Amino acid sequence: MGKKVAVFGSFVVDLMARASHLPKAGETVKGSVFKMGAGGKGFNQGVAAYKSGADIAMITKVGHDTFADVALKTMDELAWSKEYILYNKDVSTGSAIIMVDEQTSQNEIIIVPGACSTITAQEVDALRPLFSQCAYVLLQLEVNQDANERVVEIANECGCKVILNTAPYQPVSDEFLSKVYMVTPNEVEAEMMTGIHIDGLAAAKKAAQVFYDKGVQVVLITLGERGVFISDHGREDIISAFKVDAVDTTGAGDAFNGGLLTALSEGKDLWEASRFASALAALSVQKIGTTPAMPTRKEVDAFLQRSTI
Ligand code: ATP
Ligand code: RIB
Repeated sequence: MGKKVAVFGSFVVDLMARASHLPKAGETVKGSVFKMGAGGKGFNQGVAAYKSGADIAMITKVGHDTFADVALKTMDELAWSKEYILYNKDVSTGSAIIMVDEQTSQNEIIIVPGACSTITAQEVDALRPLFSQCAYVLLQLEVNQDANERVVEIANECGCKVILNTAPYQPVSDEFLSKVYMVTPNEVEAEMMTGIHIDGLAAAKKAAQVFYDKGVQVVLITLGERGVFISDHGREDIISAFKVDAVDTTGAGDAFNGGLLTALSEGKDLWEASRFASALAALSVQKIGTTPAMPTRKEVDAFLQRSTI
């Protein structure tokens, strides 16, 4: 097992429906499948990292309701420690309505973060001993941003490197970015954060430079089924995604980020780690759902063994 790591982020319950097309404004569409399950970018990434073998602490916040039980039951089933789960007795656990087009696998999501947007400074301060033991903490932008800002302060003081998955997009301060070690936007987020449309390697390199100018040290830009752009201390390239038949790409970015965290915690270099993360994501898109679609380490290793890229 690798070094200890943490994910600090959202838990929400995903309410997912699939239909032959996504409804237009005012339209009602009959769906084919409904699934309720654990979700939220933070939790999805945490589960992806945990199931792929990381020694990972999951930090999130839930209410006192049946949606919170979905998180707790999932963690019990995985035999995963609930030590860093925070509670808000006055605010409901978060939820997300996810609509998936079963022809194209495109999705539309409304997320209501609820309890996981109420993380207090005191709760973050109490995590200092944990961050002192962690090599990396992985964040997203789905919880209240003042909590993320406090996490980067403390993590930096503790020598714990911050990886920021910039999803869902929201503006962040340069001060915040300057304390982030690695960013992992998708191409849309990269464009929104840098103003550069990512239409190839040259554009991705320019976008990476914008992040470097703000103090970030490593840049990965995920490009969906086209793969991932990696920029690491002067070495820059795109590695292809694995060719698979995707049925639901919701949470592909989460699968990738969770896999990346596991691989980095094991000391793999960024290229090898990105290959591992891409394999994990390729497996996840072949299943319906988000957290429930995350593969085990055995599945990732077997997939990598029979794959050629
Ligand atoms: P989402 O918001 O849907 O969770 P994202 O936009 O954050 O995803 P993407 O860039 O779409 O993230 O995908 C992340 C990674 O997942 C890609 O770099 C790739 O390795 C893998 N991936 C995504 N879609 C596919 C696909 N159709 N086939 C194989 N791998 C895929
Ligand atoms: O990235 C996918 C996740 O985004 C879903 O699980 C949903 O909860 C939204 O937060």
